[in-house]
Amino acid sequence: MSDQSAKLEWRDEKIPVSTRFDDPYFSLDNGLNETRHVFLSGNNLPARFAPGFHIAELGFGTGLNLLAAWRAWEASGQDTPLRFTSFEAFPMEAEEMARALTAFPEVAEYAVRLVDAWAQDKTLTTLKGIDATVVLGDARRTLAQQNWLADAWFLDGFSPAKNPELWDEDLMQQVGAHTKTGGTAATYTAAGFVRRNLENAGFDVTRIQGFGRKRHMTTALKAAK
Ligand SMILES: C[S@@+](CC[C@H](N)C(=O)[O-])C[C@H]1O[C@@H](n2cnc3c(N)ncnc32)[C@H](O)[C@@H]1O
Repeated sequence: MSDQSAKLEWRDEKIPVSTRFDDPYFSLDNGLNETRHVFLSGNNLPARFAPGFHIAELGFGTGLNLLAAWRAWEASGQDTPLRFTSFEAFPMEAEEMARALTAFPEVAEYAVRLVDAWAQDKTLTTLKGIDATVVLGDARRTLAQQNWLADAWFLDGFSPAKNPELWDEDLMQQVGAHTKTGGTAATYTAAGFVRRNLENAGFDVTRIQGFGRKRHMTTALKAAK
């Protein structure tokens, strides 16, 4: 195994926990409902879906957020592919992804397709039905190299205390620089330094009710200059 691989242990046999970051990949309560609350509702989705819509994500992990967005996109009646670009420095193996995603039968039909494409190529070039790309490597280096603007961001690093590099000021500046005016970002955390970094990157930041036991989360709107 290369040193850049995900390092996992399993809680209750089914929840992947990163031993590198000492943090679970998704909510211990209900990962799919958390995704819907934080990342879909937090970005006012599916209401904003429209042809060409582009979601970007920091931290691809198990791909659960992609699956939830893909399912919501199709359920909303869109008939062109959703564009979804995610960043991942420590990709997991296809078998690990498959094991993690068995916890979510609601997205099983999409999970099979994702895992199959992931086993072939972790950048997801072979995945059909969604215009997905995973940019492998440290997002602090790779985001600056992108030449698109996203409509909505899923900011999903491990907790800011344990994975501060995925929330740092320069990276949040890059998130702002890669967001359309009127675009949004959402994250499960309400950590003060994350909110400040987003504000300094040109977002109007709002603290709203969090998911489950988390009291607050953050949504952000890219303001016109
Ligand atoms: C909470 S998990 C993401 C969960 C994921 N969105 C899902 O749906 O399963 C955080 C992810 O960020 C990745 N990560 C941590 N630091 C990173 C960095 N500097 N650049 C890119 N990815 C990073 C981790 O490897 C991990 O996969």
